[in-house]
Amino acid sequence: MGEAGAPGSKNAALPILAATVLGGRSVIHNCPDISDVRCTVEILTALGCDVSYDGHTVTVDARGISSHVLPKEHMEKMRSSIIFAGGLLSRFGQFTAHYPGGCKLGERPINLHLSAFKQLGATVEESEQKEGGIIVAKAEKLAGDKIYLNIPSVGATQNIMLAATLAQGTTVVQNAAKEPEVTDLQNFLVAAGAKISGAGSSIIVIEGVRELRDTEYTVMPDRIVAGTYLAAAAITGGAIRLKNIVHHDMRPIVEKFIDMGSFVTLEEGAICLTAPQRLHGLGYLTTQPHPGFPTDMQPQFMAMLACAHDNTTIEETLFTSRDKHVPELIKMGAKIINRYSKFFHVNGVPQLNGATVKAMDLRGGAALVLAGLAAHGETIVQEARYIQRGYQAIDSDLQALGADIKYFDPQAKICD
Ligand code: EPZ
Repeated sequence: MGEAGAPGSKNAALPILAATVLGGRSVIHNCPDISDVRCTVEILTALGCDVSYDGHTVTVDARGISSHVLPKEHMEKMRSSIIFAGGLLSRFGQFTAHYPGGCKLGERPINLHLSAFKQLGATVEESEQKEGGIIVAKAEKLAGDKIYLNIPSVGATQNIMLAATLAQGTTVVQNAAKEPEVTDLQNFLVAAGAKISGAGSSIIVIEGVRELRDTEYTVMPDRIVAGTYLAAAAITGGAIRLKNIVHHDMRPIVEKFIDMGSFVTLEEGAICLTAPQRLHGLGYLTTQPHPGFPTDMQPQFMAMLACAHDNTTIEETLFTSRDKHVPELIKMGAKIINRYSKFFHVNGVPQLNGATVKAMDLRGGAALVLAGLAAHGETIVQEARYIQRGYQAIDSDLQALGADIKYFDPQAKICD
């Protein structure tokens, strides 16, 4: 049984690092060593913070912050940098940002973020054309309000929490996202002196405070990287002991591994999975906001289902085109019918074949690595830089589990 450990969570580290603009000196431990964290560190530096990063701990001194303008090239490189907006609005009373770059997953609007800022008292001016356009938001002093999200958006929930932290009065977020990364952001802010409660439920209450204090915090483990490593064992009929995980966060993912025929035992902070020679299909799998099955595991499960028994229809409900991995999997012999980039009819085949394929986004790239592990022969995954956005050591971690995988510049080569 191979052993691996989950690194710190990308999707918790990014909003927590953005939240440091609200305070003085923050020390953030267990940040994953990935390009998205390095990009976030560059943004903090561009804003005038004093930042140091050793690959796992980021130390930010925001007392010298001097800019409220989010750099264009960073907004284009990493759309989630819009998460800085709420904190800058709260700290500075203004922010200027470019519309986040297009994304391979389809439409990624930020209307819920901007309408929430307006509800808290900001004026928001947007240039005509969205793509590459500029957003300027200003607010003398933000004032708390009751905000209903018609979609439980993770980013919008987090941006409202950041904008409301130093606002006057109380803000109530209704239909808030319940993802564990929202709870981790609340835990960081509370550790720094914010008055926030309810994260993990659909109602989050933020009572504005005057300022935040210096703080030290450790980011939660990455449940999606953890799920990806479990999938590496499952797709190859192997066994794994995975450490540094939070069982509660993993439940929506783990139950699907069990449904596909894997045997799972839970230990303190760890999970053991033993897979059958060939996985069972699921019949139907739909992505949903937490605590439903997470969209960030959809591509990885598609890779597993592509070589499982039986058939499975996958329904992607969060994004309009999280399907760039489908044609690449088909190149490897998968039988998948794509209906409107929303329904994917996966007919399991006994064996995938190695091929040269291309990563088009982070989780789709990870799915191709998984498919390559199970495939007969050698697989080359081009554009592996996408994978490095969210996986700090997928090569060495999988090698430790027995995989024959190595990065080639610029391709990641996965053999049998
Ligand atoms: C976060 O993105 C994650 N990213 C995504 O992970 C994840 O897939 C997503 O949440 C859903 O769980 C980070 O945390 C950095 P959303 P976010 O706002 O906040 C629509 C990965 O691979 N929407 O919850 O951008 C939106 O179009 C990434 O690690 C609006 O319509 O996701 C989408 O359909 C990919 N208007 C849905 O809500 C808005 O103003 C969910 O998006 C905002 C969102």
